[in-house]
Amino acid sequence: MPPSLDARLARFWVSRWDTQQERYIADREERFAVICDVVAWALRGRAPIADATVLDLGCGPGSLSGRLADRLPGLRIIGLDADPLLLALGRARYGDQVDFVDADLTAPILPTEVPAVVDAAVSTTALHWLDPQPLAELYRGVAARMRPGGVLVNGDHMPADEPKLHELTSVVREGRAGRAGVTDNEEWSQWWVAAHADPTLAALATERSARAVQHHGSNSLSMREHAELLRAAGFRTAGTVWQSGDDYVLVAIR
Ligand SMILES: C[S@@+](CC[C@H](N)C(=O)[O-])C[C@H]1O[C@@H](n2cnc3c(N)ncnc32)[C@H](O)[C@@H]1O
Repeated sequence: MPPSLDARLARFWVSRWDTQQERYIADREERFAVICDVVAWALRGRAPIADATVLDLGCGPGSLSGRLADRLPGLRIIGLDADPLLLALGRARYGDQVDFVDADLTAPILPTEVPAVVDAAVSTTALHWLDPQPLAELYRGVAARMRPGGVLVNGDHMPADEPKLHELTSVVREGRAGRAGVTDNEEWSQWWVAAHADPTLAALATERSARAVQHHGSNSLSMREHAELLRAAGFRTAGTVWQSGDDYVLVAIR
């Protein structure tokens, strides 16, 4: 059983996590809100909401799951991630609202904790860590369990298909970051160095290192390529509903 953490300590580290993530996604809160809007739309008319299940793929310490829980109280939210330190922070911070499950998203099947039918799957800044083939398998696995009308909602950086447009979306992202005042926020690597140096997180940091939680793969699929994969996986339609620079919210409807 992983060590449990003090809630105040978790609040500190998760808040610091959010700040470093905003360095890369200045409009992260707006992106979360848009994803919550889409899930609320997909669940419209569903009562009681406690019968509905949403997966958070690559949930990290639960930033998106927690916001979803606040927006749609009672919703069953299952956060999946392979990082023991981030999962422990998530459990201590949002464990009363969210079930956190230790799971590798590149595994060929979804973990047993995931029910046979889900209503939505969400993800932020995580699916670019998967090679195209395991990503396609994950999309198929989620589509197979998705209720008709359910949604997969992915907020992530995706390069534009055309190089000049890709360059321009990066320029727009940097301009927005400057105007939002997030360019001096801590870098993600500094957060990890600090977390590993905190004695209260030492056991989790050791477990993390022993497991070699490294990113083994990645993809640089464009929004169009993600949408094609999602349609091939069984989603009826897929496309973008929000964009800021090279950051998209892509929605696929089953
Ligand atoms: C940049 S973090 C984003 C976390 C969170 N979704 C957020 O927006 O704050 C990327 C997350 O993807 C997770 N991840 C990457 N590859 C994974 C895999 N193969 N299986 C499970 N989780 C994975 C990492 O552990 C990490 O928590």
